[in-house]
Amino acid sequence: MNGTDCDLLIHNARIATLAADAKTPYGLIDRGVIVIQDGKIAWVGDEARRPDVRAATETDCQGRLITPGLIDCHTHLVWGGDRIDEFEARLAGTDYAEIAKRGGGINASVRATRAASAEALYQAALPRLSRLLADGVTRVEIKSGYGLDTETELRMLEVARRLGREQPVTVHTTFLGAHAIPPEYTGRGDAYIDYVVDTMLPAVAEAGLADAVDAFLEHIAFSPAQVERVFEAARHHGLPVKLHAEQLSNLGGARLAARFAGQSADHLEYLDEDGVRAMAEAGTTAVLLPGAYFFLREKQAPPVALLRKHRVPIALATDLNPGSSPLHSLLATLTLGCVLFGLTPEEALAGVTREAARALGVAGTVGTVEAGKRADLAVWATDKPAALVANLGLTPCVGRYVGGRASWGREGEAP
Ligand code: NIG
Ligand code: FE
Repeated sequence: MNGTDCDLLIHNARIATLAADAKTPYGLIDRGVIVIQDGKIAWVGDEARRPDVRAATETDCQGRLITPGLIDCHTHLVWGGDRIDEFEARLAGTDYAEIAKRGGGINASVRATRAASAEALYQAALPRLSRLLADGVTRVEIKSGYGLDTETELRMLEVARRLGREQPVTVHTTFLGAHAIPPEYTGRGDAYIDYVVDTMLPAVAEAGLADAVDAFLEHIAFSPAQVERVFEAARHHGLPVKLHAEQLSNLGGARLAARFAGQSADHLEYLDEDGVRAMAEAGTTAVLLPGAYFFLREKQAPPVALLRKHRVPIALATDLNPGSSPLHSLLATLTLGCVLFGLTPEEALAGVTREAARALGVAGTVGTVEAGKRADLAVWATDKPAALVANLGLTPCVGRYVGGRASWGREGEAP
């Protein structure tokens, strides 16, 4: 690399690379340099071994921490209406499942989302997304699942894709047609699954609007046999799967997801060791969602010790949604993951970078600060990685690079 040109060179940075094989905690490089060319990291390492390159732009990071851009790998960020009344109802003693059975919950958001135009959904989603970006997020997964008819599911996915085109963030879209039984199919779950696999999923696949397929396996949603049909259809269309599994009970969701080589199984409060083993064998990532656990005041935490024992990769995400997890901060999610689930700060940070990338099937291209990866980075007003976790409500992110393009605190402003 000596003697060559590059687009950008960042020096005087404390870099938490989060590289899997690193010898230091967080993969820390104390006096680090990052060389960026064509939107990718061309070189990263210690100042002492800094290559002799001519940089079009050189940035002094002033000793600040740089991490991989954060990745929120499980959100329901596009929705219409709100469910503030359910928050009050739950505090007054009505539980989540009971609210769902009375036609509230996911179906309350379905009614409001069906009634909203694409433009209204986009405008409602923008401030939510901005809030995530302010936390150093450079990549976000967004699920459909509040339409539950072809037209509205397509509209949600189009809005999610538009967010990725028009905002400085990479968006992954997931089709979640099997999220709940919509009112017009009450008592006819199998008929609704026919509609998902014969009509909706083919339309979504044809339009190229989904990167993956998800479902909600639970007694208030779909059975293992129904989810299996959705997964078979996803396979037919060449789409990877993931699953909302073991959130309120254990129906063998992790095993089912593993059987279809699922990218991830998410929630997992009621996961047992058999399920953990199946995930380990299949390479399925565990996505833990402390926001839903917190807001629903759940009592059983996911089996973190078993996940560690069997070396299942652990990711963390906001599950941002209007009902069970109106949590608009990935940094707060790190704090909740440590305090409520007993993760270490290093596990938590890996969970929103390296392992979140794995949960989205993009571990080869993002998630760590390593040569060859896309230059998605977050810059922080601290030099301590654990400071991102130890505070709640503080957002020390001062800038992000998305594919090597800087977007500082105020657009265009240098550090
Ligand atoms: O991940 N578990 C199912 N679905 C979402 C919540 C959806 C909602 O309550 O609107 C979740 O928690
Ligand atoms: Fe979810």
